[in-house]
Amino acid sequence: ADALKIGIAGLGTVGSSLVRILGERASELARTCGRPITITAVSARDKSRDRGVDLSAIQWFDSAVDMANSADIDVFVELMGGAEGAADQSVRAALSRGLHVVTANKALLARCGVELAVMAEEKGALLNYEAAVAGGIPVIKALRESLTGNTVSRVYGIMNGTCNYILTRMEKEGLSFEACLKEAQRLGYAEADPTFDIEGNDTAHKLAILTTLAFGTQIAADEIYLEGISNISIEDIQAAADLGYRIKLLGVALRTDTGIEQRVHPTMVPHDSVIAQVDGVTNAVAIESDILGELLMVGPGAGGNATASAVLGDIADIAKSRPGAQRVPVLGNPAASLAPYTQAQ
Ligand code: NDP
Ligand code: HSE
Repeated sequence: ADALKIGIAGLGTVGSSLVRILGERASELARTCGRPITITAVSARDKSRDRGVDLSAIQWFDSAVDMANSADIDVFVELMGGAEGAADQSVRAALSRGLHVVTANKALLARCGVELAVMAEEKGALLNYEAAVAGGIPVIKALRESLTGNTVSRVYGIMNGTCNYILTRMEKEGLSFEACLKEAQRLGYAEADPTFDIEGNDTAHKLAILTTLAFGTQIAADEIYLEGISNISIEDIQAAADLGYRIKLLGVALRTDTGIEQRVHPTMVPHDSVIAQVDGVTNAVAIESDILGELLMVGPGAGGNATASAVLGDIADIAKSRPGAQRVPVLGNPAASLAPYTQAQ
């Protein structure tokens, strides 16, 4: 069978892991997908940077937009980040050409994911974004495919690996907030601008995507009540522990009588609950729905390999052209409306 030709824009933590894994697992992937997956084009800012992978046989583009416009590819894989600029322009250029798009970019999707999904649908292209929420946990697949027919009442969880890593190390090792954040950055967990992690925006982006999928609302990250972890001190964490709680940054979306309530804030969770046991970069997403009941998924929430694994799954779905994946159904069906969250007094 013909190879599936992919172009990768962004060769940082996630992009370089993806290139390495595609090389190491080429024959297994060809067998599982029924056709080889070949990288024919790549793009990043600095061509001279050593990325620990051999790119010599692959066409290099200085501009991701040029790559999206003209490379000989079937799938455009966007791993640069940023809600605007090169990511936005190149994804639109790729979809306009009818190319399939795979992205891990929750900031972009939280801003204009519905519009991009509609563009993809109109062009008969696929827009896959499993890595955009909770790293390697297949939560998008669960909502888009596995829970078909269910009515969801609540989605919540730990959706930012950097924050959970910081809170865990502060509690267990008494390390300072700043030292933990630095380490999360070194390990490739944090966003290019880590304010997005620690102030809760990244969790809000992910929650907005999940809300839209779970409840069929318009995407509205800006309407989410937002409080991050930058003001949490070791004393707060110890005080919570003394009362039998652990502090976790949660994203919560639930159906209320007036609409879908969405919020992101540090939360005291009982020490013996499953979610309290989720440590380090691990994420956890719970989905409550009427047919299935409560589904809880726990797994690696950030980092090169975990994220590349989800991106790879999206690419493999395209290679196999799974009929389930062909439809991009639920994004943006205005089935429910949003309700502002009012903090309990
Ligand atoms: P990095 O900052 O490590 O890498 C970004 C890459 O994009 C770099 O290779 C950079 O080039 C390239 N790049 C940036 N701007 C441009 C541009 N204008 N034109 C071409 N290339 C550009 O990011 P990550 O790999 O960590 O993240 C990538 C995406 O995945 C982001 O959307 C992020 O939110 C998302 N994500 C990341 C996770 C993680 O754990 N790291 C987890 C889940 C999602 P150069 O190297 O030359 O500077
Ligand atoms: N910065 C993000 C996090 C990456 O720490 O969870 C994964 O989306």
